[in-house]
Amino acid sequence: MTPLQSFTAAANTQEGKTLFETTCASCHGKKLTGGAGFNLKDEMWVHGSKPEQILANIKAGFSQAGMPAFAAIYSDQQLASIVEYILSQREGLDNLTYKTYHIDSNAPQSFEIIDNLPIKKSGSLATNLMDFSLPEVKDYIIEFEADLYGPKDKAGQIFSMTHKEFFEIEIDGKRVEPSMTDWLRWAWPIKQGKQKIKIRYTTIGTKQRSDKRFKMFVMNGELTEKIFGITVSGKQYLNQATFNITPDNKDEVVRKKIVKLPTSSIAVGTPLNINYAFNPKTCSFVGVWSGNFLNVGPNIEGRGRDGSLIGGDWLFHMPAQIKPLVTDTTPCEFIQYHRSGNTSFTYRLGHQQYRVEAIAQDRSSLLLNYTLLSGQNGNLQISLPTSDKFKISTKQGEITDNLFSVNAKVGQSYQVLLSASENN
Ligand code: HEC
Repeated sequence: MTPLQSFTAAANTQEGKTLFETTCASCHGKKLTGGAGFNLKDEMWVHGSKPEQILANIKAGFSQAGMPAFAAIYSDQQLASIVEYILSQREGLDNLTYKTYHIDSNAPQSFEIIDNLPIKKSGSLATNLMDFSLPEVKDYIIEFEADLYGPKDKAGQIFSMTHKEFFEIEIDGKRVEPSMTDWLRWAWPIKQGKQKIKIRYTTIGTKQRSDKRFKMFVMNGELTEKIFGITVSGKQYLNQATFNITPDNKDEVVRKKIVKLPTSSIAVGTPLNINYAFNPKTCSFVGVWSGNFLNVGPNIEGRGRDGSLIGGDWLFHMPAQIKPLVTDTTPCEFIQYHRSGNTSFTYRLGHQQYRVEAIAQDRSSLLLNYTLLSGQNGNLQISLPTSDKFKISTKQGEITDNLFSVNAKVGQSYQVLLSASENN
């Protein structure tokens, strides 16, 4: 008997849940959906999905990747409880296998014909995601079998964005009829928890072939919530899901990797729908966009560490920036940012200390208010981007050759205004 089997009787899912939440959730997420550590409830297991593999991985840890070894920390019984709990949370496919059959282009749209056909190809797919496309063959039937872990606390349905005639689904050996059929949307009810699933697809009757047609995923019974993908394109589709951050009555400050911006950036969304990012390493504004703030979906889904996407349109982004001129003797040194009222950033430039406050005027303009807080009076110089998407103006000082320059006095403020062009 494996250690796990010998302790399964003693393993206690509730105890496993408590241990998981105190020790593992910080990296793997309270809902097991991942963070610094991998997602532990989906179909993808990088180091093995079998209970004894999971147990061995928890015991040994992954020191290179930052996960400690737990063999010496927990008793075998406690470790078995953690594994039980992880397995109880599982969703998606496992042990996925396939068979393909080549058919005649004038074959009937029926799956009975495969009884008399040789299997062309068969195998298992470690990705645990179905893929109905077979680019090298024109007409074929493909059949998948797998263990399907449905949502265990609610009813679920397989949802497909393809026409159903081409599919046939069996759950635990019984044919399932669709509960919903309308133009290009079909849904088949599944059971809760673990079950066997078989899905067959035929190209007969298909007009247009593209993987995108095979978006298939599990939703809740009411078809209001997308839960997990069962095909490659279904999973990709869910990964693009949007998790919009929308500031309502005050600035939202977010520190996340954003596509096109340096990782150190601090992104700020304003309720007036003009948004910007400040890079503390250079004390500069590295991007400004109008419209929705951020979609952090790609950043929090699964194990992908993809950058968040801006929700609107760029006015500019790196390498263009609004940046104080620094020299070797006067590098910029970021001090802090303030979140009360309009978000502001304080930094030191040589002997001078500045604060820059970004104030949304309306959906298309952002006022940057620079104040020399302390130090000596002296030249404030800010290099500016150019584009026909916006114009930059000032009431004090002057702008020449994309450089705003003014003789700054301690305690005084100086403004540059960035306004999107009319036709933007
Ligand atoms: C400090 C962060 C951290 C903690 C705490 C942590 N893990 Fe991990 N875990 C990781 C990382 C990172 C990986 C990915 C290893 C790699 O890159 O191969 C991982 C991988 C795993 C895997 C392998 C997943 C796969 O896809 O095969 C399992 C299982 C796992 N952890 C379980 C646990 C359990 C159970 C606990 C608590 C007892 C725990 N981890 C605590 C960071 C952590």
